[in-house]
Parts: sequence; structure tokens; C-alpha cells
Amino acid sequence: MEYVFSDRMKNMGGNAIREIFKLLSRPDMISFAGGFPSAKLLPREEVAEIASYLLHLDRAEEFLQYGATEGYMPLRCRIAQFVSRYGITGVGVDNVRIVSGGQQTIDLMCKCFVNDGDIVLVEDPTYLAAMHIMRTYRGVPVGVKSGADGLDLTDLEEKIVKFKPKMLYCVPTFSNPTGKTYSLEVRKGIADITAKYGVMVLEDDPYSEIRFEGERVPSVKSFDKCGNVVFTASFSKTVSPGLRVAYCVGDERVMAKLTIGKQASDVHTSMLSQAIVEEYLARGLFDKVVARAIPVYREQKQAMYSAIQRYMPQEFTCTNPEGGLFIWGGFENLDTQAAFAGACERGVAYVSGESFFADGLDKRHLRLNYSAAGPDKIEKGIKILADYFKELLK
Ligand SMILES: Cc1ncc(COP(=O)(O)O)c(C=O)c1O
Repeated sequence: MEYVFSDRMKNMGGNAIREIFKLLSRPDMISFAGGFPSAKLLPREEVAEIASYLLHLDRAEEFLQYGATEGYMPLRCRIAQFVSRYGITGVGVDNVRIVSGGQQTIDLMCKCFVNDGDIVLVEDPTYLAAMHIMRTYRGVPVGVKSGADGLDLTDLEEKIVKFKPKMLYCVPTFSNPTGKTYSLEVRKGIADITAKYGVMVLEDDPYSEIRFEGERVPSVKSFDKCGNVVFTASFSKTVSPGLRVAYCVGDERVMAKLTIGKQASDVHTSMLSQAIVEEYLARGLFDKVVARAIPVYREQKQAMYSAIQRYMPQEFTCTNPEGGLFIWGGFENLDTQAAFAGACERGVAYVSGESFFADGLDKRHLRLNYSAAGPDKIEKGIKILADYFKELLK
């Protein structure tokens, strides 16, 4: 059988990270390649108890039945209040939708706004799976420069004028892959500039709860005056990615359109998962699970950053994030993509940087995740990598 795939899919490669996971089967491999929350932090007992409680309620059938595409109403009501922690106020249930992971918001936004050949601006570098989604809708990601404070507003405005993009996608807090956080001024600037030119913004925030240093910064959405910003956040990195529960908040008309897109995708997010997350929040367990996670990630980030300072060659520079799950580093003249296979042979994996750039050309960077391994393994892995990079630089 010769399969004739759609034009949309025939030239699409797999998501680079998903491909790397296939290489990581060696049991002794130290992987800095993932982006999973730490397995030991997943709240097994709490979720088991809540699931059992829910399934013994008189109305338990509701959780095993089809549900509304918009989401489980008690959870939508709760989220309308919950988002005030990101400075987002005046939210009603019609502004809230529950989705199957933040990934689905990206997918639905592209489905609803991106036509063939439309430009979508992204921070360079950005979350590679978001670009993968844009490309499946035949959108074209174009990179906007980024500095220590986040997106470069001058470059953003120039690119908006030049490319007339449909949308800007950004991860302003503890970005994947860099761990960077945009300043307050940059957030206000993004809201102002995109409103001026009528460009949609998708603000993706899976990581801001994992803050182990510094103060919270209000979301871009909190500065939205004309309804062009959609904010999405997820319970994946805090409660459990396996439950696949996330939400988005935005103008009612946009939410209504996303709902039509979701009807055609998965009808609705698992009712049982939504009810578990709602009960988890109702019992006040969310802040507790986050409070348990923060010292663990702080220690692991510190172990990685210290080991980098101690062992990596002088030429290596990297971010020192205040939260999230990633350190981003690189060299002036070492090809991290070419070095990847050798690193795996030595038992350490990372993600080389090129797939996080819109043009895929930068081969000098790498992303290091610190949530999977404990401090001792992290130190060991960074030392192995550092020795290997020193050899390559000779
Ligand atoms: C920036 C960013 N957005 C979205 C996601 C998707 O998360 P989920 O679909 O599990 O909510 C991830 C996961 O790694 C991410 O890093």
C-alpha cells in the first residue's frame, strides 16, 4: 500500500524531544533531556483518595459520562477566581474553558486563527512543540529577538509591521527552553504593541507556580485592554501531567470559537480528571503540592547551576532561572547538535538547541532539565558533560 498522506502532514518530522526519548532506554542514562515533573512529587495518595471519594458519590455517573465541551462547570467557576493570582480579574465562566493540557490550547488557537502561510511570531528560542503545532496548520513561525528581560519590544514591533502576523506565542514566565522571565515593562509593552496592531497573543504559562526565588510578575493578560490576549495554564507541572487538565482564559467570542474547534478534536476533557482537579483545588491541596515541590526543584536547580560553575569550560554561558524546570546554555563555537550522540554514549542526554529556534539554524545551545535526577546524579552528569565538552574544545 502506498500511503498518500495529506499535504499538511507529508513533510512533517516528529517532535525532536519525543524522538530523543526513544534513545534514552539505557537504564544508567542520566537524562537532562526531559521536561517532566519529578515522579516522586506526583501526589499519588491524594489523587487515589479523591478519585475513590468522587466515584462513591451518588452523582458519580457524571464523572464517567460524556460532559460539556466547555468543561466541568464547578472547575470553570473555580478557575475564574483562581486566575486572580496572575493579576487576571473580571473573569466569568464564559471567559474560561477547560482543555486537555496546555498543548491543546496551542492547537486550538492555531486551528482557529492560522491560515495556510500565516506568520506566527515566537520568541527565539521558544517551546518547540508549539512551533510543531503551528506548522501542522501550515503556519510559519518567525522568531523575535530576546534579551535578559524577555522579548525585544523593538524587534517585536518591527516584525509585526513587516510580517503582519496573525498571532504572537510567548512563554513569559520561566520559559521553555531558557528558564527566563519577562520583566513587567516587557509584559506591558507586549500588551500595548499587539493591541495597537490587532495581533492575537497566546500567553502560555505552565511554569509560574514553580517559583523558588524572587517575586511573581503579573501576566501579559492582566494588561490586556482589548481582548486580544488568551492566557493558558496547566496542572501538568504541579499536580499531574497524566490527568491532562489545563485551562484557557480569554474573550467570550474567542472561547466560543475554541469550543467549536475542541468539539472536533476530543469532544471534552476527561470528566473524571476535571473533577479530580476541582476537588484537589477545593480541598486546598494545590498550594500544598506546590509548596512540597519548590524546595526539591530549588535544590536540584542549585545542584545543576553549581556543578556548571564548577566543571563546565569557561566558554560555556547559561541562565540561572528563578523557577521552572530548565537551564539554557551554550558556547560561541561548539556544535551541540553534533556533540549529542557522543554525550549519549557517555551516558548523559540533553536537548540540543536548534529545534527551539524558528529557523532551526542555531547549533550552539542546549537545554538542560533538572527535575528528573537528584542532586548527586545531576552533579555526576554535568561533570561527564563538562569533561566531554572540554575534549571537544581542545
Ligand atoms: C511551554 C509549554 N507549553 C505547554 C506545554 C504542554 O503541557 P501540557 O499539555 O501537559 O499542559 C509544555 C510542556 O512541556 C510546555 O513546556
